[in-house]
Amino acid sequence: MFSKALVTFAAIVGVCAAATGPDAQLALGLGDLDASWATATPIVPQFTPVGSLANLTGDAFTVLRHPLFPYHSVRIKQSDFCDTTVKAYTGYIDIDAKHLFFYFFESRSDPDKDDVIFWTNGGPGCSSSLGLFMELGPCRVTNATEGTKFHAEAWNSNANVFFVDQPVDVGFSYSEHGATVSTTEQAAEDIAAFVVIFFEHFSSFKGRSFHMSGESYGGRYIPVFAAAVYDQNALLVANGLTPINLTSAIIGNGMTDAFSMVQSYYDMTCTPASVAPVLDISTCVRMKKALPRCKKWAKAACIDQFDSMNCEAAQTFCASEITAPYFETGLNYYDISRPCEDRESLCYPVTKTISTYLDRPDVRAALGVDPRVGAFASCSSLVNGAFNAGGDILHPTVDHVAGLLERGVRVLIYVGTYDWICNWVGNERWTLAMDWSGKDAFNGEPLRTWTVDGAVAGKTRSTKGLTFATVDAAGHMVPYDKPKESLALINRWLAQESL
Ligand SMILES: *[C@@H]1O[C@H](CO)[C@@H](O)[C@H](O)[C@H]1NC(C)=O
Ligand SMILES: *[C@@H]1O[C@H](CO)[C@@H](O)[C@H](O)[C@H]1NC(C)=O
Ligand SMILES: *[C@@H]1O[C@H](CO)[C@@H](O)[C@H](O)[C@H]1NC(C)=O
Repeated sequence: MFSKALVTFAAIVGVCAAATGPDAQLALGLGDLDASWATATPIVPQFTPVGSLANLTGDAFTVLRHPLFPYHSVRIKQSDFCDTTVKAYTGYIDIDAKHLFFYFFESRSDPDKDDVIFWTNGGPGCSSSLGLFMELGPCRVTNATEGTKFHAEAWNSNANVFFVDQPVDVGFSYSEHGATVSTTEQAAEDIAAFVVIFFEHFSSFKGRSFHMSGESYGGRYIPVFAAAVYDQNALLVANGLTPINLTSAIIGNGMTDAFSMVQSYYDMTCTPASVAPVLDISTCVRMKKALPRCKKWAKAACIDQFDSMNCEAAQTFCASEITAPYFETGLNYYDISRPCEDRESLCYPVTKTISTYLDRPDVRAALGVDPRVGAFASCSSLVNGAFNAGGDILHPTVDHVAGLLERGVRVLIYVGTYDWICNWVGNERWTLAMDWSGKDAFNGEPLRTWTVDGAVAGKTRSTKGLTFATVDAAGHMVPYDKPKESLALINRWLAQESL
């Protein structure tokens, strides 16, 4: 989900920029890997994998290293919590001075055969604990004293699932010596390294179908992360390692193209796109007049020729004309059908309960949270501020999605219809506008309804590996509002069935 700070920022972004600068970094994508990776001669590492997760203990961390990643290691332990029907693990990926916290839950069906799902929340700066304890995880926290409750409609029903607090300084992740990450491309280097270290050590997962999923700002993260993992495979193969079997990218209510999104705020608030118009006619008329100017100005100042001062001015104009009227309504920015209950807790008071739970000393001890981590925050304003300062959101990731599709990686874009901030109209718009070889076929597909237990769950359009799906009456956090439909969606996707 977006933190409040980003909501303000997203609001002021009137533009998409053709990704330029940071993409050069992505091509390297391998950060501090040993330089030998770049050589053509395969090296035979002296390396003993842990082999099985069952070898880990619950008392202390097992430290995993890999000779190809001299600056990386993994601390992992068994953590008996949240879902007693499966094995759960927590730990850190240590990348020099950067330490990324993760949870891993085995599948409730067949952990030795089922696919593996990576999940991240958005922000930028929000913890994946929100996804875990509020949305798709194997347990939920609704009372901090009582702790976790079993969640039947969890995504680990048929898959092994990771939740990662990324980038560093988010959730239980931390850094030393002032190491920071302030772009999606930098974050992708650490994630790509993590993924290969994990699969190398836990050889039982090697070659397993791997899905990278996320929500909200994950619309920017996931295409870049998945592209980094995909591109890294050439180096793995060159060095005699098993490539990561990247099968799909999954994005829920994503901010993949902020430009499409800004246009769609008019549709969401001034037309019956989801609910009856929520703004009055005079406001809508003013907004409609401002739209072309916002688009034109932002395109000139932020995309065609980046001029930071002028781009900022364009964003300020777009914010005051296009998004401010919605914030003034007091409605929930993640759910246009209801008021925002509490602005201090992302409109969902349960996020405070989750924070309180994660600050319990006994919980931290059980999870193995590093003592250097301070009070838990659902979203880090530090990380959010750093990403915003660099204009990370100005780089849409539509072309990354196209690049994945062209290489046979399937992509699922699902959107709760009540979300305002990353709404279905803007998401449908970029999926239709995307330039790729399946464009005509995709645009030629009608939206049809999909059902769960005989009831209509939403609409979908799907062909050539790309699926767009709406989830009726769900807000930004689809698995929170519609757990049954969200599980049906993910299970059909994993099984490669049509919705
Ligand atoms: C680790 O797990 C593998 C596979 O279950 C097993 O064969 C091996 O003996 C275990 N190693 C240790 C050190 O326990
Ligand atoms: C949480 O659970 C405890 C213990 O069952 C109870 O005393 C308390 O009232 C609950 N808190 C809330 C906010 O419901
Ligand atoms: C990757 O996963 C797919 C789907 O499970 C499977 O069909 C394929 O054989 C796997 N590829 C490799 C190289 O293991």
